[in-house]
Amino acid sequence: MLAAPRLARRASLRELWLKWEASNPTGSYKDRGMTVAVSRAVERGAETVLCASTGNTAASAAAYAARAGLPSLVLTPEGAVSGAKLAQTRMLGATVLEVRGSFDDALRAAQELADRGTHVLVNSLNPDRREGQKTAVFEVVEELGGPPDAFVLPYGGGGNTSSYAQALAELDLPTPLVSVESADRPGTLATAIRIGAPVHADAVRLSGARVLVVDDAELVAAWRALAADEGLFCEPSSAAGLAAVLRGDVEGDRLVVTITGHGLKDPAAADRHAPAPTAVAADPDAIAGASAARKR
Ligand code: F0G
Repeated sequence: MLAAPRLARRASLRELWLKWEASNPTGSYKDRGMTVAVSRAVERGAETVLCASTGNTAASAAAYAARAGLPSLVLTPEGAVSGAKLAQTRMLGATVLEVRGSFDDALRAAQELADRGTHVLVNSLNPDRREGQKTAVFEVVEELGGPPDAFVLPYGGGGNTSSYAQALAELDLPTPLVSVESADRPGTLATAIRIGAPVHADAVRLSGARVLVVDDAELVAAWRALAADEGLFCEPSSAAGLAAVLRGDVEGDRLVVTITGHGLKDPAAADRHAPAPTAVAADPDAIAGASAARKR
């Protein structure tokens, strides 16, 4: 967990903590559940693991399958996944098939193929994934010495929200869970959460999580603030929770916001939104002049 004192001040909060998931082995929170899901698949004699993914589940499945000596098959929505995530997944040895359609189409196809019994599905529909993802909540409660006033996290398919809800139920904690989705689910610039119909929508509803909505402009503002004000570079989707907090929509004085994936997962998005560099001659006067101009 990392403190975010400048953003806390900006949001008039006593304490703002970030559950930084970007330092997991493949750069996102997916590893928490994937290590469990792949280990359990191996125990049960699985021959191939399968997932549909907007990129992070893909990289995690590929990595843990390779560690276990198993092949992995990954379905991604064609043309809608960060190139860095695809490169990571390909490098890790997965067979990557780009499905003509959305993530939702790819997930449906993956479920139907898994139902034939030839592949083990390692999307968060697999309960072993959710078991692993509960550990984020356990760690936070342990580290803070008790629950925060609320947990805030992005809402894509809702697997992580339902995992957090399960963990809180097991700890018998009534801590509010705030799940933040994009106003433009099928078209948001945050491709990780470009999901039309969340597969865990019923579980999220039953969990009592409060669902908030942020638009892409709010998401980008929070994403850039986290980087420039706190020195933490995440991928766009990861800033969804923070966007709702900065808007003042989450009650409490001590909040934990989950930052789900690393900024290097989607460098092309950063390239589109970060200030462009200025070309300059290799001359100290020119450099000092250009630097002063940039500050103004
Ligand atoms: N943040 C990141 C970085 C993600 O990759 C995802 C989902 C979410 C948030 C949303 O979490 O689905 O549990 O509500 N990524 C999936 C994938 C869809 O295929 O990598 P959720």
